[in-house]
Amino acid sequence: MSNEKKSRKPLVAGNWKMHHGGLSGVELAGAVARLAREVPHVELVIAPPYTALAAAAHECDAEAAGGRGDVRVAIAGQNMHASHTGAFTGEISSAMLKDSGCTWVILGHSERRQHFGETDAAVAAKTTAAFKQGLVPIVCVGETLAEREAGHTLEVVKRQLDAVLPVLHAHVATAAAIAYEPVWAIGTGKHAGPAEAEEVHAAIRGWLAATSATLAAQTRILYGGSVKGDNAAGLLGCPNIDGALVGGASLDAVSFGAIARAADALASS
Ligand code: 13P
Repeated sequence: MSNEKKSRKPLVAGNWKMHHGGLSGVELAGAVARLAREVPHVELVIAPPYTALAAAAHECDAEAAGGRGDVRVAIAGQNMHASHTGAFTGEISSAMLKDSGCTWVILGHSERRQHFGETDAAVAAKTTAAFKQGLVPIVCVGETLAEREAGHTLEVVKRQLDAVLPVLHAHVATAAAIAYEPVWAIGTGKHAGPAEAEEVHAAIRGWLAATSATLAAQTRILYGGSVKGDNAAGLLGCPNIDGALVGGASLDAVSFGAIARAADALASS
């Protein structure tokens, strides 16, 4: 493994989507917090639904306090509004995420772009708002199947990245993450092969480097889309893949643990 890759601690994040919003979420957060003690070379993040954020954060704090204290699982929001406050019924602000114990936020997930009409500009505005509040963004990019088949993958990903690059550059010290999630691989069981994923990750690293060498060196680029225990090592072993954004397999501690352990084994070898 290159020294530059080694300098980026692997990040394994679980996006629970619209699952585990109550007590089951608190239990899962506790199980992930206990798992964290077994994978010290990996940074773990969980993104429960809004209704479970504060309780999950509390659970992770309690587990960390009972253990070595240095392995706290971080909590992420799955989305947020770009405004700090205001008359936006049903929305959640960056300050509310912070108050709920979040230190991270997932932005521009393809499900937000597809089903809720989030534009590149909206994602950029949210990214700015997240940094302002001290939340670390995981900005998602990725092409649809039609875009891939038309040969537009790199063009689409570059357009999505270009919208947030100036914001990421302005906050280079925060070391945000980018998640490459090909839409056709999300929840389908069809993951991008390591070579296919690495091609896009390397391109993203190159675009970051064209902006700033520090930005390229520090930014963790996660892969997302049907990551499971049995394909994690192949993906995470690629030079430009620094972690995973996991959906379905993050919904129980055993399958999430298998991915975290694969990442830990690679990082400690
Ligand atoms: P799956 O792991 O279920 O394919 O979901 C990936 C994802 O969308 C994570 O944000």
